[in-house]
Amino acid sequence: MENQTVPSHQLKAGMIGMGMIFDETYAPMLAAAREGLYDPSFGVCSVDLSAVATRTGTRAEKFRENNGEDFASFESYIEPDAAGQLLNAGPDFVCVATPDNRHFDAARAVLEAGKHVIIEKPSVLSLDELDELTALAEKNKVLAKIVYHKLLDPDHKKLRTLVADGELSHVNNGYCTLLEPKSISGGQFAEWIKGRNPGTYVAVHYIKLIDFTFGGKLKRVSCSGQRGLVGPADGPTWDSTQLRLVYEYESGREAAFDIHTSWVTPDNFPGWVEQEVQFRFDNGNWNGHSRRRGVECTIEDKTPMVSKISINNHYNGSFLEPWGERSQRGYGIEAIERFFREVAEVEFGSEGTREERLAKIADLTYNSLADDRQVVAAVQSMEAILERHAAGKPDSVVKVNDPAGGLALYSPGDATPEVLYSGTV
Ligand SMILES: NC(=O)c1ccc[n+]([C@@H]2O[C@H](COP(=O)([O-])OP(=O)(O)OC[C@H]3O[C@@H](n4cnc5c(N)ncnc54)[C@H](O)[C@@H]3O)[C@@H](O)[C@H]2O)c1
Repeated sequence: MENQTVPSHQLKAGMIGMGMIFDETYAPMLAAAREGLYDPSFGVCSVDLSAVATRTGTRAEKFRENNGEDFASFESYIEPDAAGQLLNAGPDFVCVATPDNRHFDAARAVLEAGKHVIIEKPSVLSLDELDELTALAEKNKVLAKIVYHKLLDPDHKKLRTLVADGELSHVNNGYCTLLEPKSISGGQFAEWIKGRNPGTYVAVHYIKLIDFTFGGKLKRVSCSGQRGLVGPADGPTWDSTQLRLVYEYESGREAAFDIHTSWVTPDNFPGWVEQEVQFRFDNGNWNGHSRRRGVECTIEDKTPMVSKISINNHYNGSFLEPWGERSQRGYGIEAIERFFREVAEVEFGSEGTREERLAKIADLTYNSLADDRQVVAAVQSMEAILERHAAGKPDSVVKVNDPAGGLALYSPGDATPEVLYSGTV
């Protein structure tokens, strides 16, 4: 047999934000990717964490301490201008995992520097921000992607397969819920939670699932919510939200989706989060529960506080493999791996030119920022409706691509809408 050498490459990764989601998904993926990812198109590509940017540096140093041997040499930068300093260190791509309302500035700095970016969900909070970032990515010929790991959940892949194959036809309505524990709103997010809501944080997973799986055009957005636990009952910080989206399909028929979220579920709940989806079609029903997939495990003195009774082994689990190795894997990690592979393919792939590979991968609608328009439109509308509600005017509705503008916010009693976005959604 002819002796062929497999090409070998390296990518330098930058990380902005090193909180819970970094520990859960980026850290295990970065550990695995140091060994190298293989693809026939690019050969072997190792990914090295070269620099990180955080607010105070504490989490970065703790991570270095706990993982000294594997991650000894990354640079750590802190505010002010942590992102700018990180970019001077010359990473090939950057992952943005800062709080929801701090994604835009970080992602813009990365794209302005001509580096690929992947942003945690929710990508950005307004269509103006989305327009600016997608234009920068196009101009500087780099990828701008989002982590939507629920699209990689095997159950959601099956749902989409049945829809794509026409086995489930025309969705009429649906219900999704994602409830987070009180420790999130009361502890982990306490620094930035004022004025925020759990819908932006987690409904966005299901907005994307609905948008990506069923297609269609977003027509109307409405939202209600409750206050009084995380902040005052008449303040701008929300305990729970109920978002309703109405979509229209090519047939002219509509579907409505209700997405209920909260971050005040008791901490002794049997799972880390409660997640359920139901979709009703012309010819069938889909009922999925991501927590109750069959396992209940009680351990004295541990469950349900230190570990949980119902565990989602599909998202992100640590396992002793049958062949003796320890591993950590699941769709939460796979979503990050896909992005690493996408960057490697753009930079080192053997098929076509870089420009052709970039165009092909930038066009993948499941994670591309340019294809997040309707999701961002829903989030921007929900936030504006909640803001009006907190100002004493509940029950507004946003009409999408209305004669008045792309996002037109109508409040009861006001004939003239406020235009949140004038372009076409
Ligand atoms: N994909 C998912 O399912 C999932 C799950 C949890 C969180 N998230 C998203 O990830 C993001 C982070 O969430 P988290 O739970 O890790 O939050 P966290 O509060 O645990 O961590 C936030 C991190 O950002 C850093 N940070 C804050 N402001 C910064 C700034 N201006 N510059 C640089 N770093 C800054 C903090 O130092 C901290 O390291 C959020 O947008 C959240 O919505 C996604």
